[in-house]
Amino acid sequence: MPLIDTHSHVIAYWDDGSPNWEISLDMLRDAESDGIEQIVCTPHILSRQEMEQDKADEVWGLYEDLVQRAAKAGIAVNIFMGAELYAAPDLKLDHKIATLAQNGKYFLVEFPMASIPVFAPQLFFNFVIDGKTPILAHPERNSGFLEDPHKAYDYVERGAFFQVTAGSLLGRFGATVQNLAIQLMDANLVHLVASDAHNLTSRPLKLAEAYKFVEEKWGKPRADKLFYENPLQVIAGETISIGEPKEIDLQPAQNWQNKVKSFFGMKTR
Ligand SMILES: [Fe+2]
Repeated sequence: MPLIDTHSHVIAYWDDGSPNWEISLDMLRDAESDGIEQIVCTPHILSRQEMEQDKADEVWGLYEDLVQRAAKAGIAVNIFMGAELYAAPDLKLDHKIATLAQNGKYFLVEFPMASIPVFAPQLFFNFVIDGKTPILAHPERNSGFLEDPHKAYDYVERGAFFQVTAGSLLGRFGATVQNLAIQLMDANLVHLVASDAHNLTSRPLKLAEAYKFVEEKWGKPRADKLFYENPLQVIAGETISIGEPKEIDLQPAQNWQNKVKSFFGMKTR
């Protein structure tokens, strides 16, 4: 089964990912030999300023440079462009790098590691009712979900997708993070697994080992869905059937009003 990666910091000279084009090309060679056929570049966009036209054009230019260099090097990986947007109350999707592969529907967003922002439910709700799907990067590494895993269910039930990092499933971020990643998998709260590659060593552009782990623990159809089918549909901007999420800890809300209230942080149960 081919693999598709929807989270990588393989563009050089932008963020804390690849430091130069040689390493970028080696990361892509790693991906190719690992069975990855398509990747989305998701450079960190940390502020509104980085989404201003000139900065967005600058990172787009780096993307085009990478695509040309990869073609010249004979690397057979399809490379798409996107971004990993840092959650902010004024987050907007008004530049072509904002959604994955410029599909206008799916965007990758990260929270600060130490908490779930108080504005996040409202922010996500506004996007979802507008037909945009937030894909939350590495929820299993966020302190808010680690302390209170049942919050994960609320986000997914109201339309967010969860993207777990391959290394988290393999224990590369410690047992606590691995445990939450497994809990999220058990609860059907994971929609994509991605590399979040930053380099050639500690955070490589590889997925095959995590695919094997998922295949052995949850079966091949599930692994194919998370590492190929869902990523393919996300890149194409198609609607994905994700199945029913399960609560990790709590009973389901009694009615829709309660769900809406809890979505805005006004818990009634
Ligand atoms: Fe990332």
